[in-house]
Amino acid sequence: MNYRPLLQRLQQAGFTDWVDELEQLQQDWFCDRHHGDFSRWRGALENLPEMQNIRADFNSPAVTIHGQCDDQVKLRSALEMLKPWRKGPYQLADIYIDSEWHSDYKWERVKPHLSPLHQRRILDVGCGNGYHAWRMLDEDPELVVGVDPSVLFNMQFQAVQHYARDPRIYLLPMTLEQLPDDMRWFDSVFSMGVLYHRRSPFDHLLKLKSLLQPGGELCLETLVIEGEKGQVLVPGSRYARMNNVWFLPSIDELQHWLHRCGFQQIRVADINRTTVEEQRSTDWMPFESLAQCLDADDPAHTVEGYPAPLRAVLLATRGLR
Ligand SMILES: C[S@@+](CC[C@H](N)C(=O)[O-])C[C@H]1O[C@@H](n2cnc3c(N)ncnc32)[C@H](O)[C@@H]1O
Repeated sequence: MNYRPLLQRLQQAGFTDWVDELEQLQQDWFCDRHHGDFSRWRGALENLPEMQNIRADFNSPAVTIHGQCDDQVKLRSALEMLKPWRKGPYQLADIYIDSEWHSDYKWERVKPHLSPLHQRRILDVGCGNGYHAWRMLDEDPELVVGVDPSVLFNMQFQAVQHYARDPRIYLLPMTLEQLPDDMRWFDSVFSMGVLYHRRSPFDHLLKLKSLLQPGGELCLETLVIEGEKGQVLVPGSRYARMNNVWFLPSIDELQHWLHRCGFQQIRVADINRTTVEEQRSTDWMPFESLAQCLDADDPAHTVEGYPAPLRAVLLATRGLR
């Protein structure tokens, strides 16, 4: 992965200390010590076959790399070594990656409500393997930076970037908290599917705000509950079999949180109950999925008896201060 053009861009923008830090961190990002499967994943990237006449399409439901690949068996085998593919779908030459999530459904719910992304600097926090970040390129932003600490998701991103070679997009294998405070640099910041994983939601929202330029736009997508202002579900040890879910506010309460953190022009763009069509087991993610996390006799509830996943998209603006 060549991060140099991104580091140069950050240097030009005056983030010299952070560039020094990234140069140090970078040497340690991809090495065997971080994950037992690392060598297998690296082998997958090293085994990606040649492709000719490459053309990327970011406007279709599947992020697509059109091209002529003479060894489809080798391509499939390398991509299969990077399973499970949770976010997608992707199409690389003749190989269709049917991921666990139809991430295109979320993008269809989010995209119509966004300020135009053309020539914007965008940050996608917790971007997974970068599916939505790729889709953003269709509007020709200046730059899209994704951050996600999962090494596997970073390597899935690298498999796609191996062919796309698009200089406008980067994925950094790190957490939101590792970004500098008060950057005030991005025109749009996305946090989709991350807030409920955070133990301190206010710190998350304040950090997102600090990364935005004055006047910049936050797109926040998260799990919510039905209910009034003041209502928040803090599940027991698990919610829908996930052991890292902390806060599910009502929509009015979430708007209050954003207001409390100083965001302005807060609006609810979409509310959607997740279906087993959108999130399901596939050949590319063969483990349990949403259907196994819902009560078989009462799919309006999770196996733990909580309301089934309901997701909201909110937009908000950083004020001029
Ligand atoms: C549910 S997935 C959402 C992926 C994608 N944004 C989407 O909406 O489909 C949550 C992602 O957040 C990442 N994540 C968790 N904690 C994070 C943190 N502190 N900073 C950045 N990413 C984080 C996880 O690795 C995971 O890929």
